[in-house]
Amino acid sequence: MARADDVTVLTGATGFVGSLVLERLLARGAPVAALVRADDDAGARRRLEQLALRTWGDADVVADVEVLAADVERARLGLAPEAYDALAARAGAVVHCAASVRFDLALDNAHAINVDGTERMVELAEHARTRGAAGRFVHVSTAYVHGRARGLAREAGPVEEPAFRNTYERTKHRAERVVERLEGAAIVRPSIVVGDSRTGWTSSFNVVYVPLRALVTGVLEVVPAPADAILDLVPVDHVVDAVCGLLDDPSIAGVVQAVSGRLAPTMEEFARLAYAHAGRPMTPCVPAAAEQIGIYAPYVDVWARFEFARAAGLGVRPVPIEQLVPLLLDHAAAAAWGRRHVLRPSPLLSSTAV
Ligand SMILES: NC(=O)c1ccc[n+]([C@@H]2O[C@H](COP(=O)([O-])OP(=O)(O)OC[C@H]3O[C@@H](n4cnc5c(N)ncnc54)[C@H](OP(=O)(O)O)[C@@H]3O)[C@@H](O)[C@H]2O)c1
Repeated sequence: MARADDVTVLTGATGFVGSLVLERLLARGAPVAALVRADDDAGARRRLEQLALRTWGDADVVADVEVLAADVERARLGLAPEAYDALAARAGAVVHCAASVRFDLALDNAHAINVDGTERMVELAEHARTRGAAGRFVHVSTAYVHGRARGLAREAGPVEEPAFRNTYERTKHRAERVVERLEGAAIVRPSIVVGDSRTGWTSSFNVVYVPLRALVTGVLEVVPAPADAILDLVPVDHVVDAVCGLLDDPSIAGVVQAVSGRLAPTMEEFARLAYAHAGRPMTPCVPAAAEQIGIYAPYVDVWARFEFARAAGLGVRPVPIEQLVPLLLDHAAAAAWGRRHVLRPSPLLSSTAV
């Protein structure tokens, strides 16, 4: 049962997914302690305020957040022993979003943040339980822990270690093994996270946005992918729905895939919609052209269809890709593909609530 001074401990609040988990928690009036990398707590608060200004146009939105300078790669998260104990004693819940999402990190570096960092957060939850806090733990993983698997990629799998595309997938897979140690922990596995399902809003123009931009601006002269390969995108608000649904129901343990599942398009279907919205003619799908998109090339060669099952029970409803593509492209154009800040319509600001 939640106690009066319990907080939800959140990592990754300065990142794309974590900032919108923070938004939802604040909109619900939940007390939050955000662990942010900085030299000291004042610096950590400044970083979160900058994020709030960039995202919502108002630094005051995070005024009630307890902000602690912390680094998940360090013992006790880099906190002083008393601060660590005090945090654990009030950690009613932990949401671990922090990670490196780079596909090209050396294994040691990716391991340090994605595996060791998760270990440090699991230790915090374990410590919280010894201090009488509930220690609900929600870990944000990735559907790509299925690596190069083909066919139906189940929430209950992968049973065996699959072939991985990069150190990101390998270390996120290992991190899940760390989380499994913690009884009752929940794992959310998003596919490729894109803008909001209602507005297209995103602050992150990596992964699918890089080839998408090259496609609709004509930089790519063909679709650099096998026509039938699967592209599973999930709007960021659906990931937040899954995370917060799991916070609301601590009886749910194990994996929840936040994905499009059966609604995920093929590469050809996706490209056709993107071209149509951009007013350009469709071009052929040429798998050999994938080398033109560098580190993203392995993600146009996906033959797994991710099982979408348990997220439905948390209220997640995948949206048709025909609905999503225009929203994503319109927001990308308004944001000049990440070169211009577009404030997010937010429930935190009554004038712009969506
Ligand atoms: N984006 C996607 O398409 C996608 C898809 C599937 C799964 N996911 C998962 O979703 C989660 C969030 O991803 P994202 O896209 O939001 O990534 P992001 O925007 O790059 O944010 C990463 C966050 O992790 C923090 N972080 C990194 N190293 C840290 C450390 N040593 N100590 C404390 N904080 C640290 C970063 O803080 P700084 O600001 O200090 O760098 C940042 O707040 C990750 O677990 C990722 O694996 C993302």
